[in-house]
Amino acid sequence: MLKVSGLSVAYGPIQAVRDVSFEVRQGELVSLLGSNGAGKSTTLRAVSGLIRASSGSVTIEGRNLLALAPSARVSCGIAHVPEGRRVFASMSVFENLALGGYTVPGLAMEETLGAVFDLFPLLRERRNQTSGTLSGGEQQMLAIGRALMSRPKLLIMDEPTMGLSPKMVDVILAKIDDIRRQGTTILMVEQNAMDAIRMSSRVYVMRTGGIVFEGAGDALTPDIIKALYLG
Ligand SMILES: Nc1ncnc2c1ncn2[C@@H]1O[C@H](COP(=O)(O)OP(=O)(O)OP(=O)(O)O)[C@@H](O)[C@H]1O
Ligand SMILES: [Mg+2]
Repeated sequence: MLKVSGLSVAYGPIQAVRDVSFEVRQGELVSLLGSNGAGKSTTLRAVSGLIRASSGSVTIEGRNLLALAPSARVSCGIAHVPEGRRVFASMSVFENLALGGYTVPGLAMEETLGAVFDLFPLLRERRNQTSGTLSGGEQQMLAIGRALMSRPKLLIMDEPTMGLSPKMVDVILAKIDDIRRQGTTILMVEQNAMDAIRMSSRVYVMRTGGIVFEGAGDALTPDIIKALYLG
């Protein structure tokens, strides 16, 4: 479904991502792992169009994405849940969700909203609450729900459990599993490496801008993981 080939991204003189290639097939959950500054967020942002790639190609179902603006990429079926959630704090839960749905014309908004509320019943209860007053975990549910409102084929998530309590980490990861089982293809960056490996169809490990390991999660023993992370 998603094919990334030879992707490179620079911030001015800093080469953050170098010649990165990977793919995500229909129905898979693929995780990008790696230590701080490895280039994971940059890779995700280049796929969803939040930052320009300097070279390489990104295609979804054969369509070239790099030529398209981020809004047009949403129409291609990509939704991005950014690092740090970024919900609109002064707006209600409902308003945040509505914003996620309006970018794609012709969607049956009520039906999609119902599906999101079924996945996150708490959001239904809190639909009129100001989003900034939600807990971190609840805001993460909202950020994921908002992305699902565009009915993406590919859901991109950057550190969905960052800063959450261990119990809430488990809740969010279980929801991500549910979303995948309902048929949405997922590309995520997750710092809980063991959880990500357990859940993923395949993982890629990045270090200093490049991919240093690719494979099924069960090929990654704790020793290999340590070596990959620590170099
Ligand atoms: N806006 C920016 N301007 C300049 N350099 C940046 C910018 N954003 C990221 N970088 C640099 O690009 C490199 C990759 O950063 P990136 O955020 O992609 O890493 P990451 O793997 O997501 O790390 P983390 O696990 O800490 O989130 C780092 O060296 C970082 O300092
Ligand atoms: Mg990051």
